[in-house]
Amino acid sequence: MSEFVRICGRADLPPAGEAREITVGERIFCVANDGGSISVMDNVCPHRGGPLGQGMIEDGKIICPWHAWAFDLKTGEAHPLASKVPVYEVRIEGEDVLAKL
Ligand code: FES
Repeated sequence: MSEFVRICGRADLPPAGEAREITVGERIFCVANDGGSISVMDNVCPHRGGPLGQGMIEDGKIICPWHAWAFDLKTGEAHPLASKVPVYEVRIEGEDVLAKL
């Protein structure tokens, strides 16, 4: 059953236009800030396991730093490939950033 879990504090979010890796328990997430729109997705690229949170944001997509596959920050879909990364619903409550995991 999925529930909202605290991912980080608002102050821990990357600046606009950037992404970062955030560890929650034993999981690592890619947290991206696309012009103030926050996305939380799995950090592991489905191609060869690259760290998406170390990637760059371009046109609403996170670009994997290893081989440049691009994943939509809202849907997790890869372009133009048939692959997908799980993206989690985000909620901001006060100073806490939550994601529905
Ligand atoms: S590991 Fe991400 S594109 Fe290859």
